[in-house]
Amino acid sequence: MTSPADIPDLSNLWMPFTANRQFKEQPRLLAKARGMYYTTVDGKQVLDGTAGLWCVNAGHGRSEIIDAISRQAAELDYAPSFQLGHSDSFRAATAVTRMMPAGMDRIFFTNSGSESVDTALKIALAYHRARGEGQRTRLIGRERGYHGVGFGGISVGGISPNRKAFSGALLPGVDHLPHTHDLSRNAHTRGQPAWGEHLADELERIVALHDASTIAAVIVEPLAGSTGVLVPPKGYLEKLRAITEKHGILLIFDEVITAFGRLGAATASEYFGVTPDLMSLAKGISNASVPAGAVAVKREVHDTILGAAANGIEFFHGYTYSAHPLATAAILATLEIYEREQLFQRARALSAKFEDAAHQLEEARHVIDVRNLGMVAGIELAPRDGAPGARAAEVFRKCFDQGIMLRYTGDILAISPPLIIEESQIEEIFGKIGAVLQDTE
Ligand SMILES: Cc1ncc(COP(=O)(O)O)c(C=O)c1O
Repeated sequence: MTSPADIPDLSNLWMPFTANRQFKEQPRLLAKARGMYYTTVDGKQVLDGTAGLWCVNAGHGRSEIIDAISRQAAELDYAPSFQLGHSDSFRAATAVTRMMPAGMDRIFFTNSGSESVDTALKIALAYHRARGEGQRTRLIGRERGYHGVGFGGISVGGISPNRKAFSGALLPGVDHLPHTHDLSRNAHTRGQPAWGEHLADELERIVALHDASTIAAVIVEPLAGSTGVLVPPKGYLEKLRAITEKHGILLIFDEVITAFGRLGAATASEYFGVTPDLMSLAKGISNASVPAGAVAVKREVHDTILGAAANGIEFFHGYTYSAHPLATAAILATLEIYEREQLFQRARALSAKFEDAAHQLEEARHVIDVRNLGMVAGIELAPRDGAPGARAAEVFRKCFDQGIMLRYTGDILAISPPLIIEESQIEEIFGKIGAVLQDTE
């Protein structure tokens, strides 16, 4: 907890996805970040077990990125992105393309994951319209999916509290696949669960119900992060790909957290060997140093939309800050670090150690599941009677006080550190979680 002397007036800021009233009674304020550590305003070091919000993959305070942003701010602070360009926006698109699966080489820049998701959904609708199938407007998401907070994203998303207040205003015609989480079958799985591939067949049921001619796209996170680390069952993504292809439905992978090394490959698509038609990106794309996002698009989808348009603007969509010069400078510097330091390979090499350390908690107090893939682990706790989420919230607070930053969703703890983490720090994170669990009712 931060000492009162260091705390500014907290009343004006309405904090996002935060229990504002509780936070303001016991604020946790960060002041600095370097490498694997945050420093709080009262000088406490906190080991970053979550890469910020799954985004600081190269670690904090990277001088190459800081220099690139500073130089760019002095050189060209802003360039309009409509009907004008600047060279680094094209260079950054090329650099992103180099990390995408073959053929996904058209890049649309945004500023966040939510914008990337809504952009991808709009591209899917525009594509079918360009092909003369404008009646394909239905979008299919998945229960427990998180796709940001735009109206498109919450419509295809599958998290009830994010939807219920807005239920009258969600996109029409959306349907949802079932989620793949079943602890009675898959508890304590290392890597991909063996059970659950058949859940992709539910897409055939949805297609039979609505008819393929009405469905534009299916969107899933290849590995669902925010909803509590749900690892796709073996064969599941392959099956979704086969069914979407068979019915002419676009497949969108929301790779906002999985791209740029989280699983030990440039993308989850590369890791699983399954290539979607569109991919939403953000977070690690700029190491979170400047807000940035993108949609990677298969060339054929892009060419279809451009080819069908009359002379003039082909796609009526974009943001004032698409390819903002500071963002493209940050993207170029970040992707260079990933390549030069071989951080994705490093993540892959570390993931066995990370898996072992996580699974040491299988028998820890309150733990009902440990799951993992690449550099992500989820630890699910038994909820307290009548107070779901309270136990994980307490563990999160205690770990923070003991110098470890985690995330939690409901009663699931998520760990997703920067890819520069050392083995001893992996041990420290899981060791401290174990000790805190032992000490928690
Ligand atoms: C899979 C996924 N999609 C979209 C988003 C939304 O990104 P943002 O918060 O940058 O809008 C997130 C954020 O965690 C995410 O995990």
